[in-house]
Amino acid sequence: MDNNVFKDIRGIACEGLIEKEAVVEYKKNFSCNKKISRAELSVTAYGVYVARVNGEIVSYPLAPGYDSYPYRIQYQTYDITDKLGDENTVSIVVGRGWCGFYDWNDLIGLLSSSRTMIAKITVFYEDGSIDSICTDSTWSGSLGKTVSSDIFNGEAYNAAMEQFESLPLKTVDLSERNIVSQDGEEICEVEVIKPVSMFITPKGEKVIDFGQNLTGYIEFELDANAGDVIEISHAEVLDKDNNFYTVNYRTAKAKIKYICKEGKQKYKPQLTFFGFRYIRIDKAPNAVCKDNFKAIVVHSDMKRTGFLKSSDLLLNKLFDNIIWGQKGNFLDVPTDCPQRDERKGWTGDAQVFCKTAMYNFDCEKFFVRWLKNVREEQNALGFVPGVVPNDWRKDYCSSAWGDVATVCPWELYLTYGNKELLRQHYPLMKKHVDFITSVTEEQFLWKGGKHFGDWLGLDAPSGSYTGSSDKTLIATAFYAYSVSLLVKAGKALGEDVYEYEQLYRSIKKKFNDTFKEFNTQTECILALHFNLPDSKEATVKKLVELIRNCGNHLQTGFVGTPYLLHALSENGEEELAYELLCREEYPSWLYSVKNGATTIWEYWDGVNDNGEFWSPDMNSFNHYAYGCVADWVYSVALGINAELPGYEKAKITPHPTDRIDELEGTFITRHGVIKSRWYHRNKKVCYEIEVPVPATVVIDNKEYEVQAGRYEF
Ligand code: BGC
Repeated sequence: MDNNVFKDIRGIACEGLIEKEAVVEYKKNFSCNKKISRAELSVTAYGVYVARVNGEIVSYPLAPGYDSYPYRIQYQTYDITDKLGDENTVSIVVGRGWCGFYDWNDLIGLLSSSRTMIAKITVFYEDGSIDSICTDSTWSGSLGKTVSSDIFNGEAYNAAMEQFESLPLKTVDLSERNIVSQDGEEICEVEVIKPVSMFITPKGEKVIDFGQNLTGYIEFELDANAGDVIEISHAEVLDKDNNFYTVNYRTAKAKIKYICKEGKQKYKPQLTFFGFRYIRIDKAPNAVCKDNFKAIVVHSDMKRTGFLKSSDLLLNKLFDNIIWGQKGNFLDVPTDCPQRDERKGWTGDAQVFCKTAMYNFDCEKFFVRWLKNVREEQNALGFVPGVVPNDWRKDYCSSAWGDVATVCPWELYLTYGNKELLRQHYPLMKKHVDFITSVTEEQFLWKGGKHFGDWLGLDAPSGSYTGSSDKTLIATAFYAYSVSLLVKAGKALGEDVYEYEQLYRSIKKKFNDTFKEFNTQTECILALHFNLPDSKEATVKKLVELIRNCGNHLQTGFVGTPYLLHALSENGEEELAYELLCREEYPSWLYSVKNGATTIWEYWDGVNDNGEFWSPDMNSFNHYAYGCVADWVYSVALGINAELPGYEKAKITPHPTDRIDELEGTFITRHGVIKSRWYHRNKKVCYEIEVPVPATVVIDNKEYEVQAGRYEF
């Protein structure tokens, strides 16, 4: 424990096994007979909890959040001073939450399945005395109105229930657990969205459309008779016949069941969340209409820092979808998707998107907390798993996924400039690189092991999810890239990196000796962007050829897509990069936009031109990964870059195109606002640049050294 708050206090839990999705309410009554100067409640649970003091909710949504529970769990402290009276009741309702992902035979699974919770109320009186009310055998436990809850399956609630079965409790020694005070961003209810329509599908289903694919839950308010039942299903899309479609949720039931009490009432689920745009009213009193419902958007509390706008409406919608992709997947940890039976902290997805994420929102605290989990999950060998928290217990490190260990800390340093944090992350970076060196089957290549490859690349052989790029090539390119980042980080920290500089040279040489030609777009892209081939010319030519020959479009998956436009614009093919960015036909970024997307799709044709789905099971409509294209728009099209870490000095290098009339971006750095805008006027390109710090501005290959201020070129 990093803190003494729970020192000598035992947790409480249910005796014996309870139903898998059961929700337990723990209660304690206590009196305060003197004048209170301050009072606080500290609490955490192996599950998800809602804390109430005298009936009022004091906890934030989905507390205590999603951590690698075997290694750490956050607790929260709430100020409850103005909630207390003479006679008080504190209630903590605990559902299985993300802990339910652990196997029941696992230690965490056991703590979770018995709904283990620990709490302490501290009351400071004006006379200087202090009362502590801690979890112990005097607390009571019972089943409650929340009948069941599960992250994937949803929630059932019985508002009419009055009698609650009490449960035998036990106290639990948690002194060996690493219970840490909240160090991540709090999860918040950020926005409320009203339905845009209610309609009956061809199958006769009553469906409400919120007009936006989002992460959170609905709330409804209605007047009903005791015993009326409301049942709701969630979906992201309709099928080609406009019927409600849930197949892509796989086994996640994502349902709500609510039994009404008499009269006016209001309900929202509190121990789970959903990824959805539509709801289907499976059961409800007839009078229920769309005005009874709203959707509440929930994500980690992050300040928006990046804004993109252009003269092109489709591009603007793409920018908006990228923001929604981030909102939907930055729920305590960076997840792949928020809807199906997955919702995991996939390390590759975070690696691909983290730079864009840091332009869009201030996510330093969010990532630093998640990286603590990555560090905890990195085993003695240095292996970083595919998902963190690794509650799936998968035991391999894929290239491009594990490399989040070097990429994310380095991007954090570039964006926010905190050297102390880089120092904290340095061992993670180093261990990752040393791990690759220790496991490879051939020196200076990353050969062997299990890799996802160019996941969902369009050049995948039929029946496979993995693009046809050579896995050893991808892995070795990332090996080189990770070593290069380690060298940069080491130099920034004044470490001796001689050995790693040598290693980098050897990997590069081996790469050139081994891979004489590149056969896919992704192979060319990685080689170019990571600066690997001895001569780049032939590789650029090959990349252009591969794009032209397949019909002027991308074929890349998770690995190649983030660097596709970079590899082109860095090598004199800027116009082709813009051509791909602005392309509207499949496959392209704007294809999904033209097809009504409100978030970023997992697959380039999640829905094809005939309205059919590309796959029943790997087809999320809220996967942020391909939203990584925003990083090219910020850093190349608008040219907003850090010349010194943390934007102490900026470098602004806009690259306009005739394809777009106007492009504008704002990025709020720690030193103030950077703006970059270009537009066409009288056959000329005009630039407006604003910087809060000294900057190098490069316009038409001419360099200008400027001080903080507004400039026009
Ligand atoms: C996830 C991806 C992830 C991948 C790994 C998928 O199921 O949704 O986003 O990176 O598995 O291959």
